[in-house]
Amino acid sequence: MSADTPAIEVHDLVKTYAGITAVNKVSFTVAKGEILGFLGPNGAGKSTTMRILTGYLPATSGQVNVCGLSVATHADEVKKFIGYMPENNPLPEDMRVSEYLHYRGRLKGLSRGKLSIRLDEVLELCDLKRVRHRIIGKLSKGFRQRVGIAEVILAEPPVIIMDEPTIGLDPHQILIVRDLIASLRGRMTVIISSHILPEIEMTCDRVLIINQGRVVSQGTPADLRREVFGHSRYELEIAGDTAAALPGALTKIEPTIHIAETGEPDSAGFRKLCLTTVRDDDLGEVLLRTLAADDRFRLRSLNRMHPSLEDVFLAATKRGWEAVDEPAATTVR
Ligand SMILES: Nc1ncnc2c1ncn2[C@@H]1O[C@H](COP(=O)(O)OP(=O)(O)OP(=O)(O)O)[C@@H](O)[C@H]1O
Ligand SMILES: [Mg+2]
Repeated sequence: MSADTPAIEVHDLVKTYAGITAVNKVSFTVAKGEILGFLGPNGAGKSTTMRILTGYLPATSGQVNVCGLSVATHADEVKKFIGYMPENNPLPEDMRVSEYLHYRGRLKGLSRGKLSIRLDEVLELCDLKRVRHRIIGKLSKGFRQRVGIAEVILAEPPVIIMDEPTIGLDPHQILIVRDLIASLRGRMTVIISSHILPEIEMTCDRVLIINQGRVVSQGTPADLRREVFGHSRYELEIAGDTAAALPGALTKIEPTIHIAETGEPDSAGFRKLCLTTVRDDDLGEVLLRTLAADDRFRLRSLNRMHPSLEDVFLAATKRGWEAVDEPAATTVR
């Protein structure tokens, strides 16, 4: 594999289950060392795509390469490159934590010497030292989840694919897992699926949103906001001659500004207004300077609104996927 070969390349991937199309012409690439977040509502096709990528499920059509090798023709080699944590990861109930990790490490081809050092490292990283001698079946769900994560990173594979790794974890453990995934940045290529959007936003370099088996949006969280909303929003609280004089004053700053009122004026006469514009650069300073200097208005606050990834997700999965077939909507990097 040459240095600039992407770690993962997916081209026109299709999977049908007895007539149901679960994955429909999905294409994306993941660069080496990148962390990609997989978002989509229930049934979107996330787990199906991940199972195909890891060589555990054959595709109906399309091409998937991992570390330069085709999964269709080299499934066994590809499995060695990937640490995969499936959805509802099954673990042997009657094994002890360190015994299980030791056994998995040997299966992954780690030598005894290397394994004992690495085992200590992952038990520490996943905060499992206290339970290393406990029977897995008697651990809480969160601890079991962490045993699954420890197993995935044990042999330091170049690619890690985790299907909802933080499901069932408490907020403290979610933080631990988030830091753990962030610590892999640049060293391993990671795909994680999650329904926890702030988590994806904080951990991932890039996000892929899928809906009904199609990629409806992809890019950095900032790219997605721009692509899905296509405008910037400001909220301001202002009193004075807003009905007659404000539109003219704002048009002089930027002709595309649109004004919407978001509520009744308060007892001091201040109205809350929402401004939208196609301009993506920050107009906050010029708006503040112009309106504050104009004695027809009194300005109390001005904020640029950043839609959350949740807003982006809801908008992207609500719009019809016919929009996706337009070239501008599927920016493949
Ligand atoms: N083994 C199967 N046989 C038939 N249909 C399946 C099978 N596995 C998944 N599907 C269907 O394929 C579609 C995609 O399912 P998938 O599990 O990939 O979604 P998902 O995005 O992982 O959802 P979730 O967020 O609920 O985990 C769904 O309609 C599902 O019912
Ligand atoms: Mg799933």
